[in-house]
Amino acid sequence: MMPALSAEEEAHSGAIGALIRERIAAAGGWIPFERFMDLALYAPGLGYYSAGSVKLGNGGDFVTAPEVSDLFSRCVARQCAQVLAGGGEILEVGAGTGRMAAVILESLAALDALPARYAILEVSADLAERQRQRLGKLPPEIRQRVVWLERLPERPINGVILANEVLDALPCRRFTLQAGAVRELGVAAEDVPASKRGAGFVERQAAADDELAGATAALLSELPSPLPDGYTSEICLRVAPWMAGVAACLGRGLMLMFDYGLPRAHYYHPQRTAGTLRCHFKQRVHDDPYINIGVQDITAWVDFTRLAEAAVACGLDVSGFCTQAAFLLATDIEQLVAEAADTVEHVRLAGEARRLLLPGEMGEAFKAMALTRECDIALQGFMLQDLRHSL
Ligand SMILES: C[S@@+](CC[C@H](N)C(=O)[O-])C[C@H]1O[C@@H](n2cnc3c(N)ncnc32)[C@H](O)[C@@H]1O
Repeated sequence: MMPALSAEEEAHSGAIGALIRERIAAAGGWIPFERFMDLALYAPGLGYYSAGSVKLGNGGDFVTAPEVSDLFSRCVARQCAQVLAGGGEILEVGAGTGRMAAVILESLAALDALPARYAILEVSADLAERQRQRLGKLPPEIRQRVVWLERLPERPINGVILANEVLDALPCRRFTLQAGAVRELGVAAEDVPASKRGAGFVERQAAADDELAGATAALLSELPSPLPDGYTSEICLRVAPWMAGVAACLGRGLMLMFDYGLPRAHYYHPQRTAGTLRCHFKQRVHDDPYINIGVQDITAWVDFTRLAEAAVACGLDVSGFCTQAAFLLATDIEQLVAEAADTVEHVRLAGEARRLLLPGEMGEAFKAMALTRECDIALQGFMLQDLRHSL
């Protein structure tokens, strides 16, 4: 059962629904899904990430690895420390509640490897405020290193760029294969009683434009098996421009990305006939983006081959690709659990580690990717497993 919307959430959802209806009308009755997702997540003042719902954590819609356990961020800190050994900065893109930033900074302080600066680029004003509150509790000598950026830095940094579960929130295009042709999925509005949940949006197809047709043709030509008629999936054409912007900020060092996703051949497996689009609302996962608009997250898995290709096009090296479990084991999560102060803490940490590591939990669906520039260190987090051949 989907939890009911509060009166405030209903009002919010109604307001963003009205905005999307206006945009659909202005566009002649149909917008691509990518545009719908962009508005639902990022419309100024109304989108899910632009407005004030709780979003992350146990009281929110979903829980990310740094929210499951500080063990995750402590392992990430170890990887950062290795790269920051000669000094440098950290830039985190999409820092959520700020919990990962706080734990990384505390861990790096303990390792005597604090970055000169920890910059955060956050699109959500509401989350940036939560980050300020969380990081404001750090000791002054750590807190003073944290800055919030309005846009990507113009001066490249040497050090580490971090992004956990950011790419899955980039708006994606959706396509379906019909009688050998690629059709684009998009959204139209229909008249519905005001009381009907879902704001009356319906999915409609249109001919693929040149950009989508070209991208899907390239994709289909590379896949090991043909895809069946009716196959529906998504393709994120924003990965390359996003990467171009972020990669330009890395002078020397490591870009470390975590997200749920797959190499291309697995992502577009013939049996994955309905794609990977998922919505998160009050800890429920479902696949209907046309309900709870503006108060639920909409995500799609990451095609890590696309990410790697985009990085290489920007002159970065793909220096590591492995499961989250392999990364955490290589950065000694087991040692962190073993160091627990007492039995109670040990039981708690062991439970958290299981959630981060087990294949049926976050261990395998989530992947870690290391993209580097002028950084020839053997990265600790990628020593146990190398899945780059699968990209
Ligand atoms: C799923 S949350 C993950 C938050 C955090 N990294 C964590 O793991 O808990 C996605 C985060 O990325 C931010 N975000 C989404 N798109 C972004 C973009 N284009 N640039 C910067 N931040 C973005 C969101 O506001 C949010 O903080």
